[in-house]
Amino acid sequence: MTTATRDSVGTAHTRVEGRDKVTGAARYAAEVPFAELAHGWLVLSTVARGRVRSVETEAVLAMPGVLAVLHHHNAPRVDTDYVGLLGVPPDLTVALFQHDRVAHRGWPVALVVAETSEQAREAAESLVVHYEEEPHDVAFCAERQTEAYTRDSHAPAVVRKGDLEAQLAASAVVVDAEYTTPEEHHNPMEPHAATARWEGGRLEVVDSNQGTTWVAGELASLFSLDPASVRVRSEHVGGGFGSKGVRAHQVAAVMAATVLQRPVRVVMTRRQMFSLAGYRSPTAQRVRLGADADGRLRALEHQSLNQTSTVYEFVEPGAAASRAMYAADAHHTVNRLVRLDVPSPTWMRAPGEAPGSFALESALDELAERCGIDPIELRVRNEPAAGPVSGLPFSSRNLVACFEEGARRFGWSGRDPRPGARREGRWLIGTGTAAASFPAGVMPSTAAVTAEADGTFTVRINAADIGTGARTALTLVAADALGVPTDRVRVRIGDSDFGPAMIAGGSMGTRSWAWAVTAAAGELRQSLAPGAEIPPEGITVRSDTAEAVGALAQKERHSFGAQFAEVAVDPATGEVRVRRMLGIFAAGRIVNPLTARNQLVGGMIWGISMALHEEAVRDRASGGLYGADLAGYHVAAHADIPHIEADWVDDPDPDDPVGIKGIGEVGMVGAAAAVANAVWHATGVRHRNLPIRPDRVLMAGGDA
Ligand code: MOS
Repeated sequence: MTTATRDSVGTAHTRVEGRDKVTGAARYAAEVPFAELAHGWLVLSTVARGRVRSVETEAVLAMPGVLAVLHHHNAPRVDTDYVGLLGVPPDLTVALFQHDRVAHRGWPVALVVAETSEQAREAAESLVVHYEEEPHDVAFCAERQTEAYTRDSHAPAVVRKGDLEAQLAASAVVVDAEYTTPEEHHNPMEPHAATARWEGGRLEVVDSNQGTTWVAGELASLFSLDPASVRVRSEHVGGGFGSKGVRAHQVAAVMAATVLQRPVRVVMTRRQMFSLAGYRSPTAQRVRLGADADGRLRALEHQSLNQTSTVYEFVEPGAAASRAMYAADAHHTVNRLVRLDVPSPTWMRAPGEAPGSFALESALDELAERCGIDPIELRVRNEPAAGPVSGLPFSSRNLVACFEEGARRFGWSGRDPRPGARREGRWLIGTGTAAASFPAGVMPSTAAVTAEADGTFTVRINAADIGTGARTALTLVAADALGVPTDRVRVRIGDSDFGPAMIAGGSMGTRSWAWAVTAAAGELRQSLAPGAEIPPEGITVRSDTAEAVGALAQKERHSFGAQFAEVAVDPATGEVRVRRMLGIFAAGRIVNPLTARNQLVGGMIWGISMALHEEAVRDRASGGLYGADLAGYHVAAHADIPHIEADWVDDPDPDDPVGIKGIGEVGMVGAAAAVANAVWHATGVRHRNLPIRPDRVLMAGGDA
């Protein structure tokens, strides 16, 4: 075999499954054919709190094609007394049909199974369910601080350093401001869909998810099965963004397949996704910054409140975003939550950092204004030498390099800091900037690499390509580790039988998988003698990175970035247009510039959408959402998005075998703040409540 070192990593490569996707050859979860397939349709509650008094199954069971109606009287029992993949108990929303309580509007109360999807839907919509309704409470607002409480999640709820009040008192300038972000939804284009069947004593599930290790493990726990008897596959995934873990559809499909002993498919409708797929909690945040006249921070306080459901405690750690950003003598950050009769929130792209950075990076802009210091210079003056609270060294921190490169390319120098001073016809023009950061983590994974007799290589790793291009990135990584061209490498993913691996989440997927692939491929390459005969079954080497990952030194590990936006605001209509946007990132070694740029630009578009458009409005009377579909929930469309550039500075992670950090989420962090700061620069008005809707711009007026 060839031993020449190649440089596939770092070169643009189109998606290895791109042709399959654009020709329709790629099959998504709901398209995989099964013989004898039955279809399940979820029935969701029409009340926001109470009890199911009765389910009138008789009439529905007589309808054409109907096979079964599962509900709390007849569904298989599940076990919820376990700790899942992420060290937390399960969201009890997935413990379907175990009791008569309704925890929120849109709570699953029954599953109708029929021969066809149409029959199941018609029967489900005909099913009469009687409720005993109780008063509900879905009103989230900042005033609920008083009843809020803290709960440690993967990050501690409260972190303190120094004497905050003393430092605030000693500060020449104090910014004390409150910010809110609304409930936001991350509906991926491909709805949640799963097919379950029993085959040779094993439970097989074909699903669309962010990690089959995760889903298989949770299903094994819920149904008290030997993990080895559960196989979950997820070949192509049309977006996840945090929503595609274990949800009602897989559990319903397994229950029905078990009861009927035939394959059953359950697909969520778009509307069902708005109550069953998770979402980002609204946040109410307060930031207090105290600084000397030269902008040096003495005090940094960030408090964030989020809502959760009555069946699961989910923390949206908005304040955690402030723990690694800026040096200050005193730091105080706290995340609180309040329980309401709402669906369980979950991770949504850049959980914590997305809403948290809006508050923190807006407050920094307010401080820059008050101190009369350029916003970039203010950030440079508060660069920490080590973790501001932890005291740990940074693995690498190239935030200032991002601002320098971004300022140069965006044309920041010579910017007139005065707000409301630039007009082009009916438009007021402004520019804004903000910092971005996201944790750069890695988790243990296993991989297998096989040298085939025909000179090619097969990589098996239970990765998930949720649209990021992970399969392609791993092809490049494997090719370099093997020292061969990419066309001799095939990467197989999305099958829990390949062994445990990290999920596509927390911006950790590609890094975690690449580490395992590099380890196995490197060892295989070492073991293959030049010209050695390969047996027909090939030669396989397996890796497990648990030990190597566990041995990593304690450091502050983050990706960073600098966001720049230019906006035009029409004060007569309240319209805000983003005219251009630039993001420069320090996010480790970039494996595939083509898909990486796509990922970063995608994150920035989310930031624009968050700044200007997205807002799920919950009706206090019904407990449900207004317009729970993609017509009513406003996301940025093509016409809202200007030319966006994303690029990066050199920033290889010194402790990663490939130098990767992770780019899944950092692209959206700070983006909304950059837009809001630009709106202030254009109009002189601070918008502290997202989204910056036309009516808010109009009501706030402007300097001009
Ligand atoms: Mo991402 S919100 O970690 O799927």
